[in-house]
Amino acid sequence: MKRFITLAACAGAACALPATSRSGVVARSSSALSSRAANDSSFPSASGSSFIIDGKQQYYAGTNSYWLGFQTNNADVDLVMKNLATSGLKVLRVWGFNDVTSDPGSNTVYFQSFINGEAKINTGANGLERLDYVVKSAEEHGIKLIINFVNNWTDYGGMAAYFDFAGISSNAEWYTNEKAQTQYQAYIKAVVTRYSSSPAVFAWELANEPRCKGCDLSVLSDWVKTSAAYVKSLDSKHMVTTGEEGFGLDGDGSYPYQFAEGGDFNATCADPNVDFCVYHLYPDSWGTADNAQEWGNNWIKNHAKVCEALGKPCVLEEFGFNNNCDVELAWETTALATKGTGGDMFWQYGDTLSSGKSHQDGNTVYYQDDLWKCMVAPHVAAIGNQ
Ligand SMILES: *[C@@H]1O[C@H](CO)[C@@H](O)[C@H](O)[C@H]1NC(C)=O
Ligand SMILES: *[C@@H]1O[C@H](CO)[C@@H](O)[C@H](O)[C@H]1NC(C)=O
Ligand SMILES: *[C@@H]1O[C@H](CO)[C@@H](O)[C@H](O)[C@H]1NC(C)=O
Repeated sequence: MKRFITLAACAGAACALPATSRSGVVARSSSALSSRAANDSSFPSASGSSFIIDGKQQYYAGTNSYWLGFQTNNADVDLVMKNLATSGLKVLRVWGFNDVTSDPGSNTVYFQSFINGEAKINTGANGLERLDYVVKSAEEHGIKLIINFVNNWTDYGGMAAYFDFAGISSNAEWYTNEKAQTQYQAYIKAVVTRYSSSPAVFAWELANEPRCKGCDLSVLSDWVKTSAAYVKSLDSKHMVTTGEEGFGLDGDGSYPYQFAEGGDFNATCADPNVDFCVYHLYPDSWGTADNAQEWGNNWIKNHAKVCEALGKPCVLEEFGFNNNCDVELAWETTALATKGTGGDMFWQYGDTLSSGKSHQDGNTVYYQDDLWKCMVAPHVAAIGNQ
């Protein structure tokens, strides 16, 4: 999601590091992940309209937990992975970015800093070592991860964190600015090379909800082309996707179908280095909340048409409607029944961590609560019964 996310999930104890492990931005060598041998056939792949994971081709359900890499208690990470594995959710999307423009203090997790005109990637104990633990725990629990590299929104820094460093003032400039793109690629390289041999990576993702309002459509599609090719040059064995909301395609002509936010779903989905195509679904934020259930069903079907024509799976990667089970379960059911769709991932997973309940942003579904029993468990069961 979305602009409404606050730092709440990371406030206080949840993000505090024990004093003994403070290490600032001191670089450490990559930890030895993936002691398990990985081989090509053990990496997830796309095939036609669906995915093959661990040798099994089927439709997959998953979820989002943007905050998981920002936790400092390993037991919390393991708890989430264990609960996902137990519940049959196979794919988890986490934020692979956390950019800051001032020193947040050594107690706070961040992955990259832009301070005094200098860009630094934080590979230390309060940096990418936290993401290392997510990857390691995912390997141990058989969970596959979607990991993205930057945010369109200012939550956890985003493209705006690069602005002063690059001498720019808008996201529109960020996509084409050489200094910003060079650093973005340096960050991609730091993350991708860390986990390129891990069987826990489902896919690399270029950004969260990239938009370029009023831009020529070539700005986003060229950036996708360049960036996806760059990721593949570092790691040709894992899949790549865009992280887009799925704007700009044929449909009822309402705002999300238009091209105003710079997205051209057909064009980015068609890129040869994009292995599967993603889109989100938030009728409340998009002015299409009247008859949200039917509007969402059509949104799912219209994306599936594009994916089917291109011979790639679509994934409904984020969706939410105020924790309304009827509507959200109907969307899941439509996604599962619609050829061209290979998976869906509700926004967002919630759990009770050592610091208390994870962030309720209005769309959080807590493990095993009533809403979970209404919209997660039956959907996973329906997939199993296919
Ligand atoms: C490769 O991975 C597959 C699936 O995990 C496994 O069955 C196979 O034995 C592995 N092959 C090698 C050579 O390690
Ligand atoms: C995300 O992108 C859109 C389109 O460029 C822009 O309107 C919006 O302000 C961006 N968000 C942030 C936080 O910059
Ligand atoms: C997108 O691709 C589909 C399938 O090939 C096609 O029917 C549709 O007209 C295209 N739409 C746009 C907006 O390019």
